[in-house]
Formats: sequence, structure tokens, C-alpha cells
Amino acid sequence: MTAVHQEYCRWRVMMRSVLISFFVAVFSGAASVAAASEAGDEGTKLCTLRPLGEARDDTDQVEAAIAKCGHFGTTVFEPGEYNITRKMTWDLVSSRVDLHGYLSFKPDIPYWLNASNTYRVIFIQDQASWFVVTGRDFVLDAHASGGINGNGQPWWSYYATRTREDGDGRPVALTLSNVTRGVVRDFRIEAQPFWCNAVADSREVTYDGMYCNATNQDPAYAGQNIVPNTDGIDTYRSDKITLLRWDACISDKLLAKITCGDDCLAIKGNSTNLFVKDVTCRGGNGIAFGSLGQYVQFNDIVDNVVMEDLKMVRLDPQVQPNMGSGVYFKTWTGTVNGVPPTGGGGGGGFVSNVVTRNVSLDRVSRPIHIYQTNGGHSGDAPSTLQFSNLTFADWSGTSEGTLLVDIECSSAAPCPNMRFENVDITVVNGTAPTYTCVNVVSETGLPGCNVIGSA
Ligand SMILES: *[C@@H]1O[C@H](CO)[C@@H](O)[C@H](O)[C@H]1NC(C)=O
Ligand SMILES: *[C@@H]1O[C@H](CO)[C@@H](O)[C@H](O)[C@H]1NC(C)=O
Ligand SMILES: *[C@@H]1O[C@H](CO)[C@@H](O)[C@H](O)[C@H]1NC(C)=O
Ligand SMILES: *[C@@H]1O[C@H](CO)[C@@H](O)[C@H](O)[C@H]1NC(C)=O
Ligand SMILES: *[C@@H]1O[C@H](CO)[C@@H](O)[C@H](O)[C@H]1NC(C)=O
Ligand SMILES: *[C@@H]1O[C@H](CO)[C@@H](O)[C@H](O)[C@H]1NC(C)=O
Ligand SMILES: *[C@@H]1O[C@H](CO)[C@@H](O)[C@H](O)[C@H]1NC(C)=O
Ligand SMILES: *[C@@H]1O[C@H](CO)[C@@H](O)[C@H](O)[C@H]1NC(C)=O
Repeated sequence: MTAVHQEYCRWRVMMRSVLISFFVAVFSGAASVAAASEAGDEGTKLCTLRPLGEARDDTDQVEAAIAKCGHFGTTVFEPGEYNITRKMTWDLVSSRVDLHGYLSFKPDIPYWLNASNTYRVIFIQDQASWFVVTGRDFVLDAHASGGINGNGQPWWSYYATRTREDGDGRPVALTLSNVTRGVVRDFRIEAQPFWCNAVADSREVTYDGMYCNATNQDPAYAGQNIVPNTDGIDTYRSDKITLLRWDACISDKLLAKITCGDDCLAIKGNSTNLFVKDVTCRGGNGIAFGSLGQYVQFNDIVDNVVMEDLKMVRLDPQVQPNMGSGVYFKTWTGTVNGVPPTGGGGGGGFVSNVVTRNVSLDRVSRPIHIYQTNGGHSGDAPSTLQFSNLTFADWSGTSEGTLLVDIECSSAAPCPNMRFENVDITVVNGTAPTYTCVNVVSETGLPGCNVIGSA
């Protein structure tokens, strides 16, 4: 066992006890609510909703139910589509939501692009949110029969011929902000206009069963990627986030299916103690660490990450032409080029103790890639953000490109301890694979890929 694995095991044991005590608290809470209900206690709260129906607006009744039952209560949404016409925050405290239907956000692009009609609670890149969940000790369960309908097609078609910029106001479908001990379970997000999920300023959050699907249906754009930025999730300033199943108490089937035209997962600054298991990425860029180092005034730290049982699947190119990487890492340069949300650079920090394990690839372009020149120009100062202790274990499958591993670390922060164990990827057309290591201090498992200085 390596030190990284030992550390990870300690953390998992700790997480297990945290989650057990959380569920004991939730279920004993439920029991006492039931007892109180029999006693006729007014503190017992159960709110049940059903959609009002055609051309009616459900936003008021949804907000009223959460206001009434979102603290120490249960809110049950019966199946159907709930018409949501304005931004909404759910503050959930010691409560449960059973969302058997879809919150359907009206596809009114000029309305949502008006900055006063969304929230800006995600600091990074000033991204907009139309739906924010905050609070503590809650379960939000969509039973794989509900979640969010982002009605993304008009957004993708609209932006197909326009410039997209970070912070331009395209809303994140589901934002968790300032959450402590929350569970999001079996949740479906159809047609997110922009990022599917974001979790920011939060701790001890488990997403167990998440589905995101941004698939263009407009024949005018067949064969093009018109769904950029539909990231599965971006994590930021958050600790102890678990994506998918962390214990075997759920059935064995893969719970995450993420179709996207961009990053399947994007691990951004100050994401620590992250555990990810059972992820399928269908199209897009692959799993990203970054971008990092965009804000000169902040260090971005990514530490102690385990991701296992990952699967990258290339789609029919008429549906989605890209299937970029298995996992890639990117930082801005050491020079400040403009200001966020669209410019930036110069930020420091580090990415360390990251294990990716059991990764299967179906015709990706470049399986493993590290670069530190995002948004940069030639002549920029090298990034000071350092990658160290990255382990790639049990990788299999195929790559369309011959360059299987492309590690280009900054000369100002060469990378120590890059470990490759049982990485067995074949190039689809049978060409001999190549590897690049630039500014790598130490490496095991890729003989000959060990270079200090430029290639
Ligand atoms: C949603 O509610 C608005 C009224 O606020 C209405 O004009 C619109 O038709 C409704 N949408 C759906 C899909 O029912
Ligand atoms: C943006 O929305 C606000 C609040 O609804 C409204 O007062 C304002 O007129 C809108 N601005 C534009 C440019 O539509
Ligand atoms: C975060 O939530 C806690 C309560 O759970 C609250 O006291 C605090 O003010 C919130 N912080 C922010 C920045 O909203
Ligand atoms: C994604 O959505 C499209 C369009 O609704 C559908 O054809 C496709 O089967 C979905 N993909 C998955 C993996 O569910
Ligand atoms: C990340 O955490 C470090 C140390 O706690 C802090 O100095 C830095 O400003 C944080 N970065 C961001 C992006 O919040
Ligand atoms: C590897 O991941 C796949 C899913 O992609 C899973 O079915 C398989 O059981 C995993 N193998 C091991 C040894 O955990
Ligand atoms: C990298 O791992 C070594 C031990 O394997 C440890 O001493 C070092 O602190 C780690 N680096 C970071 C930045 O965590
Ligand atoms: C195999 O694919 C690589 C990368 O696309 C290409 O450069 C190379 O020419 C191909 N080789 C053959 C024999 O087709």
C-alpha cells in the first residue's frame, strides 16, 4: 500500500462513520416525527405537491412547500413537470425532499441572461445559477424519476452562432452552495443549458446517482459540438465531496451516466478529500482538474482525490464529435493576462495525492494530459502551481491518438512522483504508442519518460 492509499483508507473509514451517524440521525429524526404526528404535534411537517398543469406556473407552490417543510420536514413532489419561471433557493435543514417529478425551468433565454434574474453564488468565473440548494443535514432524492429539466435545446441552438464566455449568465442547472452534510440521490438532469451541477463552499456532500444528458437534437448542428460548457459537475472550495456510491448498500449497476460536450467532471480550486466512483462519460473532454491558477490573488489547492471505476465512451460523431481524455490537468500560466471571468492567470497552489484507478477508455483522443499554458501566450512566465503524487493505476482500453501520456509540467514547478501502474492502452490503428514527459522530476512505470527541461 502506498502512503496515498493509506491516507485514502483512513479517510474512507472516517467518512463511513460520518455518514452512518448522519443516517442514524436522519432516520431517528423521521421516527420521532412520526411519533409526534400520532400525538398531533403541529411540529410534524409533510408537504405534498402535484403539478398545477398546462400553462400554469408552479414556482409559488414549490417555494411555499419548501418554506413550510424545508426545515425539519418532508416535501414530496408527485410525478410530472413543475413549471419554474424564476430563480429559486431551497434552504434545507434536517429535512428530506422526494422529487418524483421534474423542475422544468422555462426556456426564456433573454430573461435568464438578465443578471438580476439569476444568483451569482459560485465565486469562480462569476457563473450564474437559477436554482440553489443550501443548508445542512438533508436528503434530496429524485428516485431516478425526477430532477431538473433544463430545456437546453433552445440555449444550445441560440449559442451555436454566438460567442460563449464564462460568466455570461448561462445558468448552472443545480447548484449546491454552503451545504453541510447533504445527500443528492438518483437525480436526473435533462438538457442542461450550461454546467449540469456545481458544488461550492460545501462539505460532506454525497451525490449518489446523478444523470446529466446534454444531447443536441437540432439537425442543423449534427456532427458539431454545440453543447460546450455542459460540464457534469464543477467542484470549488469544497471538502469531502463524494460523487456517486461510496458504499455497497446500493445495487451494483452504474449509477452515473454523463453525456456532455465539455468536462465530464471539473475539479477546481480548493477541492479536497474528493472520492469518485462509477462514472461513465459519454463524449466531451473527459475528466478535468482545472482550470486552476486563474486568480492571481488565490492559491488553488486540490489534495487527496481518489477516482475509481471510470469509463469514457466515444459517441457517434453525428451526436458528439469529441471524446478528449481520460483525465487531464490544466493550469493558467504564471502571467496575468486580463481578468476573470474570461482572462486571468498567475495563481499558485498545488495538486497532490490524486489516484485514478480502473479507468476504461473507448477511443479517446489523448488518455492522460497535463499542461500549464491555458489562456497563455508565448513568453509568459511559467506557472508556479505544482502537480505531485499523481497515480494512474489499472488503465485499459483504446486511444485514437498515438500520444497516450502527455505530461508537460511547468519549468517553475516540475512534477515529482508521477506513478503509472498497469497502464495498458492500445492505439486503435495499431501504431506504437508514444509518451511525453516535460519537467517531470520522478516517474515510475513509463520507462524513458523522465525529462527535466523542455522536450
Ligand atoms: C409556465 O408558466 C407561465 C406563466 O408564468 C406560462 O406562461 C407558461 O405557459 C407555463 N409553461 C408551461 C410549460 O406550462
Ligand atoms: C432585468 O430584470 C430586472 C428585474 O426583473 C428588471 O427590472 C430590468 O428591467 C431587467 N433589465 C433588462 C435589461 O431587461
Ligand atoms: C452558511 O450556512 C450557515 C448555516 O448553515 C450560515 O450560518 C452561514 O451564514 C452561511 N454562510 C454563507 C456565506 O451564506
Ligand atoms: C440523451 O438524450 C437523448 C435525447 O433525448 C437520447 O436520445 C439519448 O438516448 C440520451 N442518452 C442517454 C445515455 O440516456
Ligand atoms: C484555498 O485555500 C487556501 C488555504 O486555505 C487559501 O489560501 C486560498 O485562498 C484558497 N483558494 C481559493 C480559491 O479559495
Ligand atoms: C472497474 O470498473 C468497472 C466499471 O467501469 C467495473 O464494472 C469493474 O467491476 C471495476 N473493476 C474492479 C476490479 O473494481
Ligand atoms: C507526496 O507524497 C510524499 C510521500 O509519498 C509525501 O511525503 C509528500 O508530502 C506528498 N506531497 C504532497 C504535496 O502532499
Ligand atoms: C494512426 O493514427 C495516428 C493518429 O491519428 C496517425 O498519425 C497515424 O498516421 C495512423 N497510422 C496508420 C498506420 O494509419
